[in-house]
Amino acid sequence: MLPSDNRPLAVLDRALSMELVRVTERAAVSSARLRGRGVEKDADQAAVVAMRRELNRLPISGTVVIGEGERDEAPMLYIGEKVGTGEGPKVDIALDPLEGTTICAKNLPNALCVIALTEEGGLLNAPDVYMDKIAIGPGYPEGTIDLDRSPIDNIIALAKAKGVAPSDISACIMDRPRHAKLIAEVRSTGAAIRLIGDGDVAGVIHTTDPRTTGIDIYIGIGGAPEGVLAAAALRCIGGQMQGRLILDSEEKRARARKMGIEDPQRKYAMGDMARGDVVFAATGVTDGNFLRGVHFGHDLITTHSVVMRAATRTIRYVEGQHRLFDKFDDA
Ligand code: FBP
Repeated sequence: MLPSDNRPLAVLDRALSMELVRVTERAAVSSARLRGRGVEKDADQAAVVAMRRELNRLPISGTVVIGEGERDEAPMLYIGEKVGTGEGPKVDIALDPLEGTTICAKNLPNALCVIALTEEGGLLNAPDVYMDKIAIGPGYPEGTIDLDRSPIDNIIALAKAKGVAPSDISACIMDRPRHAKLIAEVRSTGAAIRLIGDGDVAGVIHTTDPRTTGIDIYIGIGGAPEGVLAAAALRCIGGQMQGRLILDSEEKRARARKMGIEDPQRKYAMGDMARGDVVFAATGVTDGNFLRGVHFGHDLITTHSVVMRAATRTIRYVEGQHRLFDKFDDA
């Protein structure tokens, strides 16, 4: 049994790692039941309800800092919501019950349920705005990439660090009109691009294992909450990431200020976005490059998850075989 006193996170985190997987597994099964049905909101809601129920069973005093939105726009798992039994360590939580709602609705690859947890104050409290991001996996010299350099320079530097030609590099970029110039610049180096429709948390994580995923670098603008979650994952696996919030209106700058962000131009390093002994867990909803999706069998539901910890860089892949079946969604 887990202790339920106020011992520091370090004492609890090993047990909490596995508990977190249960949270993402349940959210993944609930949303996967609606996979491929074209119902983005319903699938998201199913994941939210399941994730919240499971989180509230954990012996933590958790605060959601990256969640479903601000309190007035999200009834559950809103920013600032307290979760857990309230009897354990104080932790901050970043979550996305269904990362890639459109992917799930269309049953395309890489929809995930994701959560990251660390000590109080350890996660960037980012408003729900866009973030400019760049990320590569482990094994390269520090400073190989930099958000302030041009995409061309970043591709060339990465190719040099990898010991290959720029044409042997593959970049992952979200397929959005806002990226037209970026795409043209990256292609001008000879590099290949995988254009993804959604799901840039997976896009960033894919950089950590190019041999499996075929992705060396993630570049481009996506959601800031997803940026914090991706940084948390990379803190556990290793790699380099930078992000800069896009605060292009007074309204956004004011929202950011309310969350403690004084410098709207600040370039955040990975460790500025996710500090301390981060624990990150994800479960696949749809089949993807690094996690398979939920499989509903005759009398068995199978889930595939990853759980990892920054302190030790331990990465565990967990296949869950769930036999509760009929009762699974509320048990
Ligand atoms: P949702 O799960 O909220 O649908 O987000 C999916 C996503 O593709 C993220 O992975 C990405 O960061 C963001 O949306 C990009 O936003 P936009 O669709 O506005 O370009």
